[in-house]
Amino acid sequence: MRRPFIAGNWKLHKTTAEAVALVEALDSGLTDVADRDIVVAPVFTALTSAASVLSDSNIALAAQNCYPENQGAFTGEVSPALLKDAGCRYVIVGHSERRQLFGETDAFINRKVRAVLDTGMTVILCIGETLEEREGDKTFEVLERQVREGLQDIGAAAMDGVVIAYEPVWAIGTGKTASDAQAQQAHDFIRRLIADLFDKQVAERVRIVYGGSVKPGNVDGLLRQPDIDGALVGGASLKAEDFMRIVRFEAG
Ligand code: 13P
Repeated sequence: MRRPFIAGNWKLHKTTAEAVALVEALDSGLTDVADRDIVVAPVFTALTSAASVLSDSNIALAAQNCYPENQGAFTGEVSPALLKDAGCRYVIVGHSERRQLFGETDAFINRKVRAVLDTGMTVILCIGETLEEREGDKTFEVLERQVREGLQDIGAAAMDGVVIAYEPVWAIGTGKTASDAQAQQAHDFIRRLIADLFDKQVAERVRIVYGGSVKPGNVDGLLRQPDIDGALVGGASLKAEDFMRIVRFEAG
């Protein structure tokens, strides 16, 4: 049985005061939840303040990005070591906004994956096809490339520190969710690919979560799919009530 994993990616939203208010609301509203991992990813500048609120919490912190070197002349960048120092246990890597808006390649993303794993944190590796790729029947080809190259030179043992987030680009921030069946089909493909690249045990253990317009109204159906182990939530994670309902999904 894979432990469900629900994460909120706050993207470029919320001041430190607003972030603290939201983590306080989530912390007090979710204390009883013990059977799933709960993660929030505020902006860099809010991380240490959020970490103080969450020091004793069942909610863990993630960063939204990192640079693949721990120190040096890299003006403007933040390293995995510093994110761990700030209180993070997870780092999101390869989000489609970083691929599309900042030109990140699979090779660069792979360096980040390895740098995060080297610190002992867990990496949330995002993959997903664009609408054009889906309509051109390239979905599986794209997913295979992103997984294969993103996880290059990662050993089977290190896969315990990897969560894969399938986020079809056409479903992000559009209100257009993948259907339960479309998402399940992609997750099943990714899991079989992990079995090929590593082995069956790794594939059975790795958590593959869905992202793209996840809301209180669609989370239960998505999480009922056998290969969907959780959610990476954007917009709906900015409201305490919505995110708490998503965390409390009912897949039974
Ligand atoms: P939305 O939930 O706003 O579609 O965003 C999904 C996402 O990009 C999470 O990383």
